[in-house]
This record gives sequence, C-alpha cells and structure tokens, in this order.
Amino acid sequence: MSKRILIIGACGQIGTELTLKLRDINGKNAVIASDIREGSKELMKSGPFELVNAMDYDSISKIIDTYTITEVYLMAAMLSATGEQFPAKAWELNMTSLFNVLNLAKEGKIKKLFWPSSIAVFGPTTPKENTPQETVMEPTTVYGISKQTGERWCEYYHKKYGVDVRSIRYPGIISWKTKPGGGTTDYAVEIYHSALLIGKYTSFLKKETKLPMMYMDDAIEATIAIMNAAPEKIKVRSSYNLAAMSFTPEEIAKVIKKFIPEFEISYNADFRQPIADSWPSSIDDIRAREDWGWQHKFDLVKMSENMLHNLHAKYNIL
Ligand SMILES: NC(=O)c1ccc[n+]([C@@H]2O[C@H](COP(=O)([O-])OP(=O)(O)OC[C@H]3O[C@@H](n4cnc5c(N)ncnc54)[C@H](O)[C@@H]3O)[C@@H](O)[C@H]2O)c1
Repeated sequence: MSKRILIIGACGQIGTELTLKLRDINGKNAVIASDIREGSKELMKSGPFELVNAMDYDSISKIIDTYTITEVYLMAAMLSATGEQFPAKAWELNMTSLFNVLNLAKEGKIKKLFWPSSIAVFGPTTPKENTPQETVMEPTTVYGISKQTGERWCEYYHKKYGVDVRSIRYPGIISWKTKPGGGTTDYAVEIYHSALLIGKYTSFLKKETKLPMMYMDDAIEATIAIMNAAPEKIKVRSSYNLAAMSFTPEEIAKVIKKFIPEFEISYNADFRQPIADSWPSSIDDIRAREDWGWQHKFDLVKMSENMLHNLHAKYNIL
C-alpha cells in the first residue's frame, strides 16, 4: 500500500511547512492536513483539509479509515509559554493527543508515527553546555513535563507493543511563513519582522540568554529524514537530541545589524526568562548524526540572510 499521511495540527508554525513539503514529495492527495482551525491561504489551497480535534479519538480514527492513512505526524500541542498560563489545559492536550495516536498505532490502524519532543524536557539540573542525549532531566515547565512524559510513553509503546514511533527534541524553530505559537524562543522570529518593519525590537529575554535554535528548512529536513530512515537505524525510541546553532539575543541582533545597520535592540525580560534559564545553551546531537545521518545546513548568518530575503518579499518592501 502506498504512503498516505495525516498531519494533525497542520496549520501551526511547523505543521504548515511540513505539510507543504510532504505534498511536494508525495503528491497533494497523499497528504491530509488537519487542525481545529483553518490555516494560511497557501496551506488551504495546497490539498485536502479536515477540521479535527486531536483530543477526539473517534474523529481521528474515522479520518484514518476514510483516507486509508498509513502515517501520522502529530504537531498539535500547547507550547511552553502558553502552557505556563494554562497548565491543566496544556497537560490535557499534550497527553491526550499523544495517547490517541499511540493507541491507534498500537491497534494497527497506522504503521508509523511522528511526535515532536523539545529541548524543554531538560531542566535547571541538566548540564547546560553540549547537553548529552542521556542526562539528568528535571523539567520545570508543564510543557517540559508533558514532553518528557511523552518520550517515556513513546519508548514504552515501541518496546511493549512494537509501535514505530519516531521523535526529535526540536530546539527553538525559526521561520518566516507562519508565526510561532507561544514558545519561549519566539523572540528569534519576532526580531526579524520588527527589524524590517520598524527597525527596532524589545527582546523578552536578556541579552546573554543563549539557547539552541534551528532554521525551519533544517527542522523539516530532519523530520522527513527520521521518518524515512530504516527502522533499525532508529535506536533511540524516546526522542533524539537535534542541534544546528546556539545564540543569544545580543548575537542575533549583531548579525541583523549587518543587513540593517540602523536596527536597534533593547531588552525587557518577562515571565519567559525563567523558562529560558532552565533550558540548555547547546545540545550534543551526535546520536542523530550517527544513527540516521542528520546534518544541518543553516547557521546564524545564512539563516538571517534567508529570513530577511523572504520577509522582504512577503512584506513587499522595495
Ligand atoms: N516551534 C518550536 O520552536 C518548537 C520547538 C520544540 C518543539 N516543538 C513542537 O513541535 C510541534 C509543533 O509546534 P508548532 O510550533 O508548529 O506549534 P503551533 O502552536 O504553531 O501549532 C500547533 C497547531 O496545533 C493546533 N491545535 C491546537 N490544539 C489542537 C487540537 N485540540 N486539535 C487539533 N489541532 C490543534 C493549533 O491550531 C496549531 O495550528 C509541537 O508538538 C511543539 O511542542 C515546537
């Protein structure tokens, strides 16, 4: 049977670009986008779309039957900053949606599952630099707790029931097409928009806060690569560390200034600062590189060039 994909949470920052890329590769009708809301015009025009709640097991099951789905990418979640405002809701969404798809895979209704974890699984007691794959994990946000718990369940379902679930601990993802959905690294997207539109930006993180980050193109490439790898290459069945670059607000501002010399940054740390302080500064992703050949393409300068170029066109700036 040929590959037929369902993306749940397809209208978000990562889901939008993942859907478009998977449609390029597999054909538009082989990739069903779904979400609780409609997405961008580009996404909605690009192929089939269904309104589905990730917490509704029966609706997902029905869509899987209707479209004879073989693979699911679960991108619906409540992210770190929003999760701290609504802890109970974050826990409910993040765990219920994961159990729904794990159980559908366990029942043999789908063959393969992608579920993203996050660097938020780490906490203040984790080694901060070059954080290893296996290390102390004591997350302090509800989002991090849900991701760490999710990782344990993924590994459990793989070992106990043979579920082919694959996962990556994404760092902060930077992109220009779709705005981010309430994470602690959102400043690194907002800064490009503000630099182009008003020439200044106030960062909600302190200037020296160094966090692991990745350009969307690399994140999509990694997601598709791990899903296409032979099953025996996937030796970590909780979630893989994944890295590309690390930088501070001060460092990103310096690079943007090279392209927009009049750009000015100021700092006003808010409730997201303690979340950022609890996370690693850099990640050791040797296992992903060795096991399934992960390689990143974008560093801070190349990403900034690409972001500003694309946003220029988007905002029609001459
Ligand atoms: N963006 C990042 O920097 C980052 C970093 C680490 C991990 N992740 C993980 O990657 C995944 C995707 O993140 P994102 O940045 O695209 O998030 P996002 O917030 O931009 O998108 C999430 C999407 O899920 C949808 N959604 C919310 N509740 C739903 C429900 N009940 N049913 C169906 N859809 C629902 C939303 O409408 C939204 O379109 C998440 O699991 C997130 O934790 C993201």
